[in-house]
Amino acid sequence: MESKVAVVGAGQSKYGESVDKSVKELFLDAYIELINSVDNGLEPREINAVYIGSLGSGGFQLGNLSALMAEYVGLPGVHAVRIENACSSSGFAFIEACLAIMSGMYDVVIAGGVEKMRDVSSLKAKYWLGVSGDTEYERLAGMTFAGLYAIMANRHMHDYGTTREQLSMVAVKNHKNAFLNPKAQFQNKITLEKAMNSPMVAYPLNLFDCCPTTDGASAVLLCKAEIAKKFTDSPVYVAGFGTGTDYLALHDRETITSLKAAVLAAREAYKKAGIKPKDVDVAEVHDCFTIAEIIAYEDLGFCERGEGGKFIEEGLSSMEGEIPVNLSGGLKAKGHPIGATGTGQVYEIFNQLRKTVQKPARQVKDAEIGLTHNVGGSGGTAAVTVFKV
Ligand SMILES: CC(C)(COP(=O)(O)OP(=O)(O)OC[C@H]1O[C@@H](n2cnc3c(N)ncnc32)[C@H](O)[C@@H]1OP(=O)(O)O)[C@@H](O)C(=O)NCCC(=O)NCCS
Repeated sequence: MESKVAVVGAGQSKYGESVDKSVKELFLDAYIELINSVDNGLEPREINAVYIGSLGSGGFQLGNLSALMAEYVGLPGVHAVRIENACSSSGFAFIEACLAIMSGMYDVVIAGGVEKMRDVSSLKAKYWLGVSGDTEYERLAGMTFAGLYAIMANRHMHDYGTTREQLSMVAVKNHKNAFLNPKAQFQNKITLEKAMNSPMVAYPLNLFDCCPTTDGASAVLLCKAEIAKKFTDSPVYVAGFGTGTDYLALHDRETITSLKAAVLAAREAYKKAGIKPKDVDVAEVHDCFTIAEIIAYEDLGFCERGEGGKFIEEGLSSMEGEIPVNLSGGLKAKGHPIGATGTGQVYEIFNQLRKTVQKPARQVKDAEIGLTHNVGGSGGTAAVTVFKV
């Protein structure tokens, strides 16, 4: 696919617990960084449309969220749409923004996301998150998201011999990466021993196998590829993207050791980009639980099916490895503000490919092709995008 869309700016709020900031203020933080990142300048009136991913911000702002965000950052009047696809909301908002540009309708578009999860009690957050699975069959039967991924982890361990240590290795790697990310929720390194011995949440997943609940926002600026150089001398181009869906309830799926939606999305994205999995230099993948990152290595073709455990154990996804994965700290340690996660991943890849990450120690060397993998719920939806410089 010839690149028709470029990313020319990106911003992200600090992820974590923001007791002193509202949903609007978090989005404003991301927007201000986005505007400042556009090297050659951007007049806000040049922005035609805003696509915002959000699950529902803890029930605080369920309606008209996109117009509210647009209004608050000084863009009343633009075409504004909220996209809700659970945890992949802004991965899909990004793709909708690409489609709007590719259709010829708009030239300059913002895709972003926002979520405020820490205002509600832990119990309410779990209840609210649970409705992104098949509510009738799963949540109403008492299932949580950690419980769903625990079922997948058990099966993966049974079928392929994936070990508890390998799960914890994902957490250790991602905390190590987040230690170098000033915007991450957890900026602490952890030992394998600490990760292995943390309190059990849903066997075999313990506290350090889970992403936290997070407040945060992210936003990226896209434009028609032909006009990208007007905004910056170093645009990042969208080389290809793909999406997929699957049955929401685990019991309806062909397999629970792979996310079919992600496999479909990756296949389409690679085909459009004209690349093979091994061409990817750096990736941000959806590690809502450690097993999800191991399955992502396999679904994305970074390794053979069943070899994900070995992939982390051999250090192939570390900063120095074959394909560095989640240099931001991933959902596990950078945090997972549901609706903001997809464009938060794009923010990281944009900066990795342009060599503008805040801390040089976190900068991957010589990366030309980046990938984002954003999954909704327990795999009901998935969006994969390939970027190139
Ligand atoms: C893991 C989880 C169950 C912990 O919930 P909780 O016990 O209510 O956690 P709290 O926010 O009250 O934090 C309790 C402590 O654990 C720590 N903590 C919370 N989540 C953590 C995580 N994922 N990793 C490491 N530490 C964590 C907190 O920092 C806090 O530490 P402190 O007491 O030293 O301050 C919860 O974060 C969760 O449900 N995560 C998954 C979210 C999810 O499903 N997202 C959608 C994915 S598809």
